[in-house]
Amino acid sequence: MMEKINAVITGVGGYVPDYVLTNEELSRMVDTNDEWIMTRIGVKERRILNEEGLGTSYLARKAAKQLMQKTNSDPDSIDCVIVATTTPDYHFPSTASILCDKLGLKNAYAFDLQAACSGFLYAMETAASMIQSGRHKKIIIVGADKMSSMVNYSDRATCPIFGDGAAACMVEATTEEYGIIDSILRTDGKGLPFLHMKAGGSVCPPSYFTIDNKMHYLYQEGRTVFKYAVSNMSDVTEEIAQRHGLHKDNIDWIVPHQANLRIIDAVASRLEVPLSKVMVNIQRYGNTSAGTLPLCLWDYEKQLKKGDNIIFTAFGAGFTWGASYVKWGYDGDKI
Ligand code: UT7
Repeated sequence: MMEKINAVITGVGGYVPDYVLTNEELSRMVDTNDEWIMTRIGVKERRILNEEGLGTSYLARKAAKQLMQKTNSDPDSIDCVIVATTTPDYHFPSTASILCDKLGLKNAYAFDLQAACSGFLYAMETAASMIQSGRHKKIIIVGADKMSSMVNYSDRATCPIFGDGAAACMVEATTEEYGIIDSILRTDGKGLPFLHMKAGGSVCPPSYFTIDNKMHYLYQEGRTVFKYAVSNMSDVTEEIAQRHGLHKDNIDWIVPHQANLRIIDAVASRLEVPLSKVMVNIQRYGNTSAGTLPLCLWDYEKQLKKGDNIIFTAFGAGFTWGASYVKWGYDGDKI
């Protein structure tokens, strides 16, 4: 009998831009303050890519380059690149295609994956399935977003939340019992009224009208999104834990989407997992959309051990959401 192929993460690279947008600076731009932002969201500062002419592929390229170095990867060995993003450089061609050129990949094909803040989770499951099929050996998955390109910095209800950043993981074939073991992913399409960009797509292409009416910004009805995020993320996280006999004593880490510290708290407390086992960097980066999960791995990589039981969970526009169970494949930081 043929040995089962698993898909394991073999490295992490990341990048956040240098510019730090603090709550103090934001409170000079809109009617807000550090106390409100810290208690309602939990963000202290976020990074902004403010150099003109640079888009999401710049963030993705920095992250993927570091990943290639850390994993000592020959560009010719990469089969595929998947970039999860909601803020592509262009409508077309894909940000992933631009990345292929920047990384000098000759044997890869590449595409963008759009699942809003759940994009990285979907990319992980997609790459895992591609590798388990036996048809791919080595895939780069990237979560990258330049959220500042669609945030309205005169809307105090949304501008404190988001930041720019990217991180990438190498996903490779192994016959060891490690890697991306299982996922529960969902999409219901019910979220459209509550989280979207009104114009710029095929329903409502750009025009003077859409510009004048500020229709090219991220629109969110926060309270509704909050409720769905808590209940849907908690449900799937609990479901995947039960399916694999995971509970507070044998879960090593939870990696939650970084949208709001109160959402993270609620999801962790449903599983009775203490916050010390929950990856949190929202205070430094805010919500980088598809970037949040891999940026957590990037920050916590040193603390990870081979065999750690990790549950990832995310929620985003669509609505899209899900949870994945990963058995981590290596010890500590790979430099
Ligand atoms: O990543 C994709 C998924 N997105 C999410 O998961 C986001 C989910 N939603 C949230 O995280 C929260 O709903 C927000 C952080 C967006 C908002 O927090 P909230 O506790 O739901 O606040 P709210 O919208 O209900 O507003 C409460 C009050 C309002 O004032 P009144 O009407 O009670 O007088 C707002 O006008 O807070 C006011 N407010 C602010 N005050 C100071 C809203 N934004 C601000 C602000 N500073 N920046």
